[in-house]
Amino acid sequence: MKFFVDTADVKEIRELNDLGLLDGVTTNPSLILKAGRNIAEVTKEICDIVDGPVSAEVAATDYAEIMREAGILAKIADNVCIKVPLTLDGLKACKTIRTEMDRMVNVTLCFSATQALLAAKAGASFISPFIGRVDDMGLDGMELIAEIKQIYDNYGFETEILAASIRTIGHVKQAALIGAHVATVPPATLKALVKHPLTDKGLETFLADWVKTGQTIG
Ligand code: E4P
Repeated sequence: MKFFVDTADVKEIRELNDLGLLDGVTTNPSLILKAGRNIAEVTKEICDIVDGPVSAEVAATDYAEIMREAGILAKIADNVCIKVPLTLDGLKACKTIRTEMDRMVNVTLCFSATQALLAAKAGASFISPFIGRVDDMGLDGMELIAEIKQIYDNYGFETEILAASIRTIGHVKQAALIGAHVATVPPATLKALVKHPLTDKGLETFLADWVKTGQTIG
């Protein structure tokens, strides 16, 4: 499973990239707002840090304007992945961006398996089902991931399932068990994946015993 980090915070991205944990980055208008940065500047900075896909989202909703914005975002760097909404205009733009610009597209705001089917037929590089927001409605976000996985496997679609709106370590585990290709995870949740109380306790004991041996290595 590939790990993308879901943030536009350059400091966090640099730290996670230095740890070797990052395969890509996703941003959205809300994350750009939170970072308080200009979209072109911050996307360029992120693309200079991370080699993998960096999703930058269009703000337009009609086809012509989506295409105009996609052209601008694509010029920022070769690894910019254009993020479009799961609407008819977004899907039409997805197809054009894939075929005429030969550029990665992430179709976002996916809440149903049939929406994901449409995105795959439009040639999306990534489909982003929003697990946490589905859970928030009292439904099961993970069931959505499983349904999309089965449909994509049935027809051999190459679109990668990018599990999004992840809130917990359990979400990451379940998405991985189902076989989602990518998880985009907030920085704190990504770092929390390493934590286990028995790891901390075991390390404490080993270090204490090592001191008692009186030895040094090397
Ligand atoms: C995905 O690309 C989105 O940016 C993100 O995962 C949305 O998550 P949220 O529901 O926590 O805002």
